[in-house]
Formats: sequence, C-alpha cells, structure tokens
Amino acid sequence: MVNLDIRLKAVYDLAEKCDTFLDIGSDHGYLPLHLIKNNIINKAVVSDINEGPLFNAKENFELYKMRDKAKFILTGGLRDIDTRDIDAVSICGMGGELIISILEEDKTKAKGFDYLILQPMNSVNLVRKYLYENGYTIVKEDLVKDRHHFYNILKVIPKKDIREFDEIFFDLGYDLFKEGNENFIDFINYKIRVNKKIIENCKSQNSENAKRAMEKAVDYINRLEGVKKDYESKRCNRVY
Ligand SMILES: C[S@@+](CC[C@H](N)C(=O)[O-])C[C@H]1O[C@@H](n2cnc3c(N)ncnc32)[C@H](O)[C@@H]1O
Repeated sequence: MVNLDIRLKAVYDLAEKCDTFLDIGSDHGYLPLHLIKNNIINKAVVSDINEGPLFNAKENFELYKMRDKAKFILTGGLRDIDTRDIDAVSICGMGGELIISILEEDKTKAKGFDYLILQPMNSVNLVRKYLYENGYTIVKEDLVKDRHHFYNILKVIPKKDIREFDEIFFDLGYDLFKEGNENFIDFINYKIRVNKKIIENCKSQNSENAKRAMEKAVDYINRLEGVKKDYESKRCNRVY
C-alpha cells in the first residue's frame, strides 16, 4: 500500500481506536485505508465534495480489497451524512476557514463525535480560536515539517476548554508549547524571519500604514522571542 507522507502519517498517529471513522474530503482515501489495514478502525465513511476524488478513493479501496469496509458519500462537509453511528472524524488538507465553515454549518453533528482530527493547511490561528470560542478542547497537537513546509495537526474533543493562555498561542499552539515539539523553535524562528522581512519592506516606504505594520511586526517579534525564551527555559529545567 502507498506509504503515508509525513503530514498524513502525523494525522494517522493521532487517531485512536474506534469502530467507524469519517474522513471528510478524503480524496485518495489513503488515511482511512491505513487506519483499517492496521486495525485502528473497523469501518470508514469516506466523503468528498467532488466526484473525481471520491472515485479515486473507491478505486483504491477496490485495489486493496477493502471495498466492503467503507461507505462512500458525495457531499460537502457534514451534509447528508448520518453521523449517529460514526465515532470520530478527520477533516484534513483543507484551508482553515473551510474547516471552520464545515464545523459551523452543522454544529450538532460536529459536536457529536468522540474526537476530531483537523489539519488546516493555513489559518490555523483562526481554527484554534474558533475551537476555543465554540466549546472544543485541543487535547493533542503535532507540528511536522516536510520539505520546508510546516503542518499543524490538531486532535480535538467537543468539550469546553477551561485553560487560560495568551492569545499568541492561537498562532503557536498551546499544547505544542506545553508538551514540547521538535519543530516548535524552528517554527517560531520562521515566524520571526517573516516579520523581520516585513520590517525591512516597511523601512523603504514612507507611509502611516507602513509605520503601523512595522510597529506591529516589532511587537510580534518581541512576543515570539518571549515565548521562545519561556519554552527553552522550561525544556532546560526538564532535562537537567
Ligand atoms: C487537498 S485534498 C486533501 C485530501 C486528504 N484529506 C489529505 O489530507 O491528504 C482536499 C479534498 O477536499 C475536498 N473538499 C473540498 N471542499 C470540501 C468540502 N466542503 N467537503 C468535502 N470535501 C471537500 C476536495 O475535493 C479534495 O479532494
């Protein structure tokens, strides 16, 4: 069977044993195929909004002789999916705002799963903020890097998050900060570099907007440096 790439392997690793698993926007279907093959789940509901990807998923299930283990549904988000017998869901490889709109469109269904695995390709800060403000808790996170790209993967339960943390962690991931992640410092340094570039660009412009953008970037870099320092001292204390 085709190997999962680094991103999907990290999604796979956050899945826990259950009976029926829904993969929204499955495309090739590799995630549910691997979960079934390794007995993490018994059955899958595989959905996609487009016919081509859903067809690909069906073909792959045929190829690996697992056609009887899955139901295929052509639909957008949670629409037309009877979630009553589904334990968990993944929504991966999509933009953060699309993931939010899927959760928002059918809140009752979204809140009915034991756990959700979300892998936004962008706007992860908006996803974390949405989850925090809408009665979900991120119980585990991963941050992986594949060919210069960072990918965030969030495991979520439908239960209110009662922790209090600075809003910078909507950008950075509070779980990654608390539990540690091998790519966390690299990710902060990347964000610092992006903001230094903003400052450089603004320097050559002589407008109020550029001045404001520069101040914002300077402030953000200071906050990032603060988190980095806290993280490093926390790690140091843990090791020695
Ligand atoms: C980039 S692929 C990601 C495939 C797989 N989930 C992964 O992470 O590798 C995104 C898939 O989501 C599907 N998609 C986009 N919007 C969707 C929606 N609202 N509901 C369900 N599927 C959607 C697309 O057709 C496409 O197959």
